[in-house]
Amino acid sequence: MIDKIASIKEEVNGYQADTPAKVEEFRLKYLSKKGALSALMDAFRTVPSDQKRELGQKLNELKTFVTERYNYLKENASLSGSFDSASIDLTRSATSFPVGSRHPISIVKNDILRIFADMGFTIAEGPEIEDDWHVFSSLNFPADHPARDMQDTFFISRNPIDILLRTHTSSVQTRTMEKNQPPIRIVCPGRVYRNEAISARAHCFFHQIEGLYIDKNVSFADLRQVLLNFAQQMFGAETKIRLRPSYFPFTEPSAEMDISCDICGGKGCAFCKETGWVEILGCGMVDPNVLKSCGIDPEIYSGYAFGLGIERITNLKYKVKDLRMFSENDVRFLAEFESAR
Ligand code: DAH
Repeated sequence: MIDKIASIKEEVNGYQADTPAKVEEFRLKYLSKKGALSALMDAFRTVPSDQKRELGQKLNELKTFVTERYNYLKENASLSGSFDSASIDLTRSATSFPVGSRHPISIVKNDILRIFADMGFTIAEGPEIEDDWHVFSSLNFPADHPARDMQDTFFISRNPIDILLRTHTSSVQTRTMEKNQPPIRIVCPGRVYRNEAISARAHCFFHQIEGLYIDKNVSFADLRQVLLNFAQQMFGAETKIRLRPSYFPFTEPSAEMDISCDICGGKGCAFCKETGWVEILGCGMVDPNVLKSCGIDPEIYSGYAFGLGIERITNLKYKVKDLRMFSENDVRFLAEFESAR
């Protein structure tokens, strides 16, 4: 019997079973009721009692050994079996998981920032909750300017100083100039708030990018060239720009920039109101009063600034007609931008 136990152990040790069917054969041969172990147990009953102790121990050891080998073979066969089994179609395409897409405002914001980064601008940011100084006073707004009105601005508190939601990203100009001396060359993306009734064409919050360049000998020609380069990279090499005189408290002289209409190519259409031009940003040479309020000497330095609305550029690029779509998060709208990036 001792020999039988040893030979079964050796057999089991070298037993190979790489498919579930072969593992089942193993089980039938050794572990089933009609298997080798059962037969040994039957024989054990007739063993003289002085040998029972030793043989019993050996039999138990064998049982554990065979069971462990069985479990090992079963596990391996189920791993490899799933790959070579004929019942599985390896050419089937993998399950696809729905993935999100970038928001159109983020796509366009990143495009704009990349264009300016290539021209040496770095990114600066500031808080959305601001005080009067950074949004208005430092930027040369007179005390009675209508932008300070409750009709335009969301005030959070008015005592002891006005705390409000910033109405433009120009506030980041002041924040940056207060802390840094020129040369300064920044673009400042961010959300801004205005007390407007929500409609297809106006919203109580939207997004802007402010640009600022302060150094020695900065001229209006530098501003024009940077903006032309931006317009052509954003809307195509054929794009033309036009600067119209305008007014902003923080720039002098000030201008508004139009680009040739991206939709009709300048011929005139409903989008450009038959003019062939669409306005995309405000700009100008930084007013010496603004430099002074931020501790920069206007006798030594000059600079330009510009500010654009990201929604406006996005409307032009993707022809979104209703501003509310940007904040409703309707997945049918958002999914349209899956291929955009
Ligand atoms: N802050 C202006 C606005 O919100 C945009 C703007 C115009 C920014 C002219 C500028 C600028 O820096 O020079 O409408």
